[in-house]
Order: sequence, then structure tokens, then C-alpha cells
Amino acid sequence: MLYAVLAVSTIARGRVTFLDVQDVKAHAGVVEVMTPANKPALAQDPDEKTNPFMFRLDLLQNDRVRYANQPIAVVIAETLEDATEGAALLSPRYDTDPARIGLDATETFVPPGVGIGNPSEVHRGDVEAGLAAASKQIEATYETSSQYHNAMEPHAIVAVWDGDTLSIDTPSQGLVMAQGRIAGLFGISPSNIHIRSPFLGGGFGSKGFISGPQVLGIMAARMVGRPVKLVLRREQMYGPVGHRAPTRQTLRMGADDDGKLTALDHRTKTTSSTFDDFFEPASDISHALYASAAISTSHEAVRVDTGTPLFMRAPGEATGSVALESAIDEMAQACAMDPLAFRLKNYAEVEPISGKPFSSKALRDCYTQGAERFGWARRPLAPRQMRDHDGLLVGWGVGTATFPALMFQAQAKAVLRQDGSGVMEIGAHDMGQGAWTALAQIAADGLGLDIDQVEFRSGTSDLPDGGIAGGSAHTATAGMAIYNAGADVVARLADLATNDDRSPLFGAGNAGVIARGGRLLRRDDESRSESYSDILGRAGLAEIEGQGNSAANQAAQSTYAMYAHGAVFAEVKVDPDLGQMRVTRVVGAFAAGRIINPRMVRSQLCGGMIWGVSFALHEHAVMDPRSGRPMNPNLGEYHIPVNADVPSVEAIVVEERDPHVNALGIKGVGEIGITGTAGAVANAAWHATGIRVRKFPITLDRLIEPQS
Ligand code: MOS
Repeated sequence: MLYAVLAVSTIARGRVTFLDVQDVKAHAGVVEVMTPANKPALAQDPDEKTNPFMFRLDLLQNDRVRYANQPIAVVIAETLEDATEGAALLSPRYDTDPARIGLDATETFVPPGVGIGNPSEVHRGDVEAGLAAASKQIEATYETSSQYHNAMEPHAIVAVWDGDTLSIDTPSQGLVMAQGRIAGLFGISPSNIHIRSPFLGGGFGSKGFISGPQVLGIMAARMVGRPVKLVLRREQMYGPVGHRAPTRQTLRMGADDDGKLTALDHRTKTTSSTFDDFFEPASDISHALYASAAISTSHEAVRVDTGTPLFMRAPGEATGSVALESAIDEMAQACAMDPLAFRLKNYAEVEPISGKPFSSKALRDCYTQGAERFGWARRPLAPRQMRDHDGLLVGWGVGTATFPALMFQAQAKAVLRQDGSGVMEIGAHDMGQGAWTALAQIAADGLGLDIDQVEFRSGTSDLPDGGIAGGSAHTATAGMAIYNAGADVVARLADLATNDDRSPLFGAGNAGVIARGGRLLRRDDESRSESYSDILGRAGLAEIEGQGNSAANQAAQSTYAMYAHGAVFAEVKVDPDLGQMRVTRVVGAFAAGRIINPRMVRSQLCGGMIWGVSFALHEHAVMDPRSGRPMNPNLGEYHIPVNADVPSVEAIVVEERDPHVNALGIKGVGEIGITGTAGAVANAAWHATGIRVRKFPITLDRLIEPQS
């Protein structure tokens, strides 16, 4: 195996005019230098885009530079050290054009769509009339920073070619999509591509689509005819593998004398790259949460010299939520109302933008249980009223959480064996959230076996399509395929028994039996049962196989609005002299349908709330407007919360039965925790200090008392 190391551009815009390939090739251990001049031919232009989920890649197609940290060459050597040293010897020279960075860098335009094909603008009712009729109004503008996924594990690949067959070990949140993309680029059949991606060291959306650097690893292996390993360095992840674009969001709201919203206007401006389309759908959160006769949401954008932004930890919901939850608090303040009481008065009973009823909604229970646990009733209405024994200002804030309950397509295969064991196969992923634990539980349930009797096979592309581990939909999507595969194989087994007059189940009919503990039992008389082994043995079968699919139920989706809900309460302490703020307590109560594994679910919810703290106080990719380069592309200076930053985080799981989302009633918990939380922290910061910070992350300079 050889080692490949990327050389990336130090400019954000222009052309590479020279690479010292000779010098690099002369370096000991260097085997090859892949540049636009000698790269292997591809079957498809990496800039071709045949569907909205195909993102343009930088695969050395020419000498152009369109963002900082764009790959410009790949050095392949016998050791990692040789390749790294070789890459440092390339000494690129550039023709540099001025970088355009930030929300005001270029001409503003209305994007054709936002997020996953949502319309840029949605209007319901007359916002101006609603504002005019209001007795209280607010208008406020919030800014959120550029953020990078920063999964612990960088994007990495080991690629091995054997003729036209490709084997890769690489992290992926969607194996079939990755297979399809690679197949197109290299002109081979998807079935010739074998991907192993059992566990991911975090993804956060950045591994949803195969990235340029991963493909460069495959090209390098093609070029040298040997296995190649390519691992991104941390700073190389600030460019070619996606990020969350910055936003500037302006909200206008009106409320009547009763404190009921009369109008809600949510406008977002964001950035995308110069060469592709992804637009953070921040305003869309206002479609789903608060009732108002008039709601208007819109998006505009500018193109900047960065890599293309992508899906990242509740794309749209996270950014939109921090602005909406801050604005709702400002509206409550204008009405002199408690912010929780204001939310209880204004949360929507039906989805406001569509008028559809929710498939289920336990938000009121989330507010109530969260507030009770947190001790919200003792909160003084006015800010700057609470201090701890050290004299630190204490503030309490609340935010509403929500995330859509999505479902993608997936397939699974189930096997029952004569020895009494079972197998479940699905090409699913575990990003560290414990997905496989939950999925194995669903498999055991569906097969009517003890979990120790089930072999759960997952994480490779030769297994049935496990769909996408994204959109907080993995457990529902993969889970439903597993559940259906289990039901299918059990039905086939029941066929054998109920049609055989030697079985105690003879004549029961398939609906008349249940599967439990490795046996089929008569529903009307559980003393009449037969083991799987006996049924298969008598039929002379070593094993029996079933299949299952899952997909969103279109009829239910067009009838109901499907979301998980929650309420997050945060306590902060602020040093009045230094502005230093710490989050000391977070309590979130969430209703997300059926909970398969409470421990995994609480862990996911707590993780999401920590992202929310991170959004509010820590994460900020600082771009140098002169060079267009990220100035803090490392985990030392790009801040994320460590244990000391979040002393107490508690997730309450609120019981909810949703009969419509899917047969298992699962809504998903991956991303909802980030929503509500950042707003709750910002609102707590205001309550502690009386200072309303509208720029995120909230840094201490913004909390120092104005000197008078
Ligand atoms: Mo996520 S941003 O749906 O991986």
C-alpha cells in the first residue's frame, strides 16, 4: 500500500501557474505526483450535475482554484512521511484574483430552491396587514457564523483496484449513493464497487456524499496500480468536504393585546460557492412551530469563494431555530410576558404553513415536564435579577425544539436458520450513535428471537441498501426495512406450519400466530406452539429467507405534518466584569415517537444539546477576508465544547405514540437536540445580563457591560 497526501491551494481564487513536480519526484520514496496534467481520465466531468444531490467535485480537472484548501495535486509515496514531505516541496505559484468572502461579497440573488428542493419563498396570509394590526411589534437581525463539521475522524480512504473492480474502505453515510457517484465518475458498474463502512468516527452530514478527496484517493490508486491510503489532515477539511454557511436573518413579528402572534416574517441571507448550489434553508423553521394567520419566509444568497456548503447537523433547522427562538423571546419581552407562557400561547396546533394536522404532537408535555424538572416557575421575569454565591449573574432561557420526521428508502434481508438462530442483513451505518444496537433490537423483535440469537450484518455495500444515515431518519428507515424483512420471513415460516397437519399450528392461519422466543404460538391458545427449528426441520430446510423494504408512506405524509418536538431550558452564569459565560445546566424534554433504546436516545439528545451549546457559544470559522482562507482550521482554535463547558445536560424522553409516521412509530432523534438549545442559551444570556446578543457565537466581548 502507498500513501497519498493532498496538496491544497493557499489562495481562494485564481489559477495554479506552476508546481515543482520534478523536485517532488526526486524526493526519496515518492512514487508519483498526480496533477491536472497527468491524472487518470474520468468517464464523467466532475463538474457535471445531473441531479440536485450530485455535488460538483474538485478532482484536478484543471488549473483553476475556486476556494482555499482546494486540492491541487496528490503526492503518492511509499510512506506517509515521504508523501507529506513531497507535498511540501511542490512550491505552487499562482495567478491570484481577489477573494470574495462574506454575506456582502457579491451580488445578491434569490436561489432557485433551498435545502432539499424547498421553495425559496413561502407566503401565507398578509404579513404587512398582520404587523399593522399588532399592538406590539419587533424587528431584529441575527447573524450566525460559518461552521465546519469537524467530525473526530477525518475523511479517509483506502482504495484497491483489481482490473475494473474497486474495493474501498471509507466512511460513508450512504453506501448506495456513494457507489453510484463513483460508478459514474469511473465508468464502471456500481456492482463492481465494494465499499466497507461499518463504523464512522462522526459524520454530521459531511460524509453523506462521497467527497472530492475520497475520489482522489481512488484516482491515485488507479494511477499507480497499487493500493493507496489517503487521509485528510484536519486543516484540509476546511474546504472540500462541506460546511455550514453563515446566515443573516431578519425577523419581524407582531402580537395583539392577548399576546397572540399576528404576523411572522423570516428572511434569511446566506452564501453558497461560485460553482454549485446548496442554500441553508434557515427560514423554513418558521413554517412549523408557531401559529400566525400571516407567515412569510424567504431566502436570498450571494456566491463566495469557499467550498460548497452542505448538509450539517440540522441544516436550516439549527440556524433558523437560533434566530426564531431569540425573536420569540424578544416578542414575549415586548408583550411583558414570560417566554414560556408566550410559547404555550402561540405554539401551533396544526402546521401553520400547510394547515395539516400533526401526526402527533406532545409539545405541551415537553414544555411542562422540562419546566418542572428545570424549576422554571421560580424564574423572575426581569433580567439581571439572579446571582450565585460568587456574584456571577445567573440567567434562565427556553427554546422550542423541532425536527421533521423523515423516511428514506431501504431494504433488508432476514434469515431464520434451523439451529434456531437468525440473521439480519442491511447495509446500514453506525456513526457512533449506537444505531446498530437499536437496529439489532428491532431485528430481534421482528424475528421473534432473543437478541443474542440474531447475527446483525451491516456496513458493507454488498448487503441490501440501508439507505442514508442522515436527516435523523436512519432508525426509522433502516428499522422499518428490518421490521418488514422480519415479518416476511416469519410469515413464510408460518406458511410452512399452518398448512402442515403435523404441526400444532395447523389451520391457525398466518394472522393466527405470533413469533416469540424462537417459537410460533397460536394467538388464541399460546400453549399450542412450535419452535422454528422443528418447523424448518420437518420441512427439510436448513434456513428460510425473507425480504423487507421501507419508504415514506406518501398518503400519510400528504395528510399529516410529521415532526418530533421538544423544549430546552438552559441556565448560564456570566461574570459581570469579564463577560465570561458558562452554560451550567441544560434540561431538554423531547417527544419523538417510539423509543427503541432509551439509553441511546438520551445520548443522542444530549449530544444534540451540546451541539446547541456549541452553536451558541463556541463554533466560529473565522475567514480572512483578504486571503479567503479559514484562519482557525484546527481543533485548537475552532472551538467546540469539552466536558468542562457543559457541566450538566439532561434529556427527558416524553412518551408519545405516533400511529402515522411508520408502523413502528419512530420519529428520529439525531438532530432535534441542536434546535431550541442555542436559542435557549442566547435567551438565558439576555436574562442574566439584560444584553441581547444577536451575533453567534456569543463571545465575552459582547457581554461586557457598556461602561457609562
Ligand atoms: Mo445529517 S446533516 O442529516 O447527516
